[in-house]
Amino acid sequence: MNKISRRKMLLIMGGSLAGTTLAMAGSGISFAEDTPPPGPFKLAQKPFSWTPKTLDPKEIASVAYQGYAYKGYGCAFGTFYSIIGLMGEKYGKPYSEFPFTMMEVGKSGISDWGTICGALLGSVSALSLFWGRKERDPLVDQLFRWYETTAFPIYKPMGKAVKFEGNLPTSQSDSVLCHVSVSKWAYSSGFSAASDQRKERCARLTSDVASKTWEIIEAKMQGKTIAGFGKSDARKTCGACHDKDKESPILKGKMDCTPCHSGDKNSQNKFNDHPLTK
Ligand code: HEC
Ligand code: HEC
Repeated sequence: MNKISRRKMLLIMGGSLAGTTLAMAGSGISFAEDTPPPGPFKLAQKPFSWTPKTLDPKEIASVAYQGYAYKGYGCAFGTFYSIIGLMGEKYGKPYSEFPFTMMEVGKSGISDWGTICGALLGSVSALSLFWGRKERDPLVDQLFRWYETTAFPIYKPMGKAVKFEGNLPTSQSDSVLCHVSVSKWAYSSGFSAASDQRKERCARLTSDVASKTWEIIEAKMQGKTIAGFGKSDARKTCGACHDKDKESPILKGKMDCTPCHSGDKNSQNKFNDHPLTK
């Protein structure tokens, strides 16, 4: 597999299979997005139908921060509760009927897997109660690109800190992934990923993400868009060949490519001669 790309190999091996697929594609069977295939979807007939209500940004910032620590429910619960939970507490139904503890699943990048930052998962889940993908995706782009390019944490707790008192070092992760975000911070700060300092950092970050999400929601409610964050330079450069209809259309996603594909000293092969012996 060294001299020949996996894609080419698959094309060679899958010749006959590809033929079948093409024949199917040509047979005219397709489903329009707005007419779902028959099925038991009676409960999906009022999509994205909740309406956001006014909240106090200061309260959001502090509830998100406290929410991170509340019963250890974590970052996704924190951001989600600071918006939808507060709407429920102030305005009642339908917001109050949400089974809020389900958002705990986002903790530590979904059940400790370090995938998507849970603070982001909680936030975009809140957005999704109001807006479907056509309207939501530009908002998610704003939030995620801001996250990639921001040094966290920013929030300063008012009163008692939930895990650790005092100032904390900041770092920019260039990535929306919990793993990259937490590990880069732990590496650059010198604190263990399991330390109270790291937990405090994530509690404050939860507040930062909730505040930004609210800024985006408020702007949307007022028919405005907040100052833009375009695609990362790498996403543009690499997309020129790897996006749909380009010469190598194998790319999925909008993440900044830099943290994983730039081959910097920390993303090189760590399976050999590591830590360096000489
Ligand atoms: C000028 C066009 C072009 C640009 C720009 C480009 N690529 Fe590629 N890339 C290719 C082609 C062609 C392949 C071979 C893919 C295939 O076999 O289908 C490839 C393959 C790859 C592979 C698979 C392994 C390999 O090295 O062959 C990775 C990973 C990759 N590109 C990442 C990137 C990233 C990250 C960027 C942006 C920094 C990027 N590419 C920019 C054309 C490009
Ligand atoms: C969080 C890390 C991460 C980010 C961010 C990321 N990639 Fe990847 N990418 C990977 C990994 C891991 C693979 C699988 C590599 C392998 O096959 O060994 C991969 C696979 C690919 C492949 C297929 C070739 C292959 O080696 O299987 C392409 C092309 C590619 N990435 C391009 C990009 C581009 C362009 C971006 C930015 C838009 C990007 N990636 C962002 C980690 C990442």
